Amino acid sequence: MKDDPAMQLPEASTLQFTPDMRICRLLNGMWQVSGAHGRIEPPAAIQSMFNYHEAGFTTWDLADHYGPAEDFLGVFRRQLLAARGEEALADLHAFTKWVPRPGRMTRRIVEENIARSLRRMGVSRLDLLQFHWWEYDDPNYLEALLHLSTLQDEGKIRHLGLTNFDTEHLGTIVDRGIRVVSNQVQFSLIDRRPELQMVPFCQEQNIVLLTYGTLCGGLLSEKYLGQPEPRGAALSTASLRKYKQMIDVWGDWRLFQSLLEILKQIADKHEVSIANVAVRYILDRPTVAGVIVGVRLGVTDHRHDNARVFALTLDTDDQQQIQTVLDKSRDLLRLIGDCGAEYRR
Ligand SMILES: NC(=O)c1ccc[n+]([C@@H]2O[C@H](COP(=O)([O-])OP(=O)(O)OC[C@H]3O[C@@H](n4cnc5c(N)ncnc54)[C@H](OP(=O)(O)O)[C@@H]3O)[C@@H](O)[C@H]2O)c1
Repeated sequence: MKDDPAMQLPEASTLQFTPDMRICRLLNGMWQVSGAHGRIEPPAAIQSMFNYHEAGFTTWDLADHYGPAEDFLGVFRRQLLAARGEEALADLHAFTKWVPRPGRMTRRIVEENIARSLRRMGVSRLDLLQFHWWEYDDPNYLEALLHLSTLQDEGKIRHLGLTNFDTEHLGTIVDRGIRVVSNQVQFSLIDRRPELQMVPFCQEQNIVLLTYGTLCGGLLSEKYLGQPEPRGAALSTASLRKYKQMIDVWGDWRLFQSLLEILKQIADKHEVSIANVAVRYILDRPTVAGVIVGVRLGVTDHRHDNARVFALTLDTDDQQQIQTVLDKSRDLLRLIGDCGAEYRR
């Protein structure tokens, strides 16, 4: 099943995420199989999962609402077990999410939803359950988290994480004595909101960040360098549409082109790609454990290019050059709010 025997990530690609889990710092993001990013063929997708896993991209980010993502993980896990035996499963880590509608959070509701993910993924325990909440005015998120902690004590969940929580509410959760190991937030050269409040708080509390949007759906790549502003049908995935809106708030297409030009110069100097520079920049931020890169399984494949990020070091000169463009951008914290505020407007 190995498509390229030479393709193997270096040791530097891994990180001790928790005492019991070593992960790949580039996580494979599965929102891209949800249907909003082009048609995915299940057999080709599962084959592609083998290719990622065997090259060392062994950590997956998914969610209960990413279409068939949890089912794909279940099928892949079963096939991996059949093909390679129990040992191969040791490296595989799947981080899912639970994204409930606001409302009362009873033990039964929480338990049933976790049971569903366990069943779909074919596991007896979730490696990491990342919890999302839409509505801070509804305090039931604390109830849900307390029930999740009980399920963790009972062995159904290894670790609890969050996604899109802002610093204030992360603080409320910590104050309630609920132990979360991570928060998944948007973090990129365009969206640097986490640096202001989230990162310092996480440093203090020993919580790590998993980041998304780091490539802006692919906009941070050579493909868009020197190109006219994409609009309408040219923004062909949900991801491109989401981050194009972010760029519009951050600055404009002209400023974005200046950023791509600087990134290209830096990329050429190090003989890597713009995507490598954009990912390395975020991997180097304090508290960032991993960057999630969306994978359109069986449609596109950037493994070889993305693998090069682990041999790249950005120097002070590179950082300064990037900063000259970033200094011209708008303040997203002021315009949008802290991490995740865009989901709660
Ligand atoms: N918690 C949340 O609220 C939340 C929200 C969004 C995403 N996420 C997570 O983050 C994951 C990533 O999603 P995203 O929307 O943030 O997308 P992204 O990772 O910023 O972009 C993914 C796209 O970037 C392009 N790409 C990847 N590597 C490349 C390279 N080396 N060179 C050029 N282009 C490259 C590919 O585009 P092509 O396929 O077109 O080539 C790929 O589909 C999701 O799957 C999900 O797991 C979480």
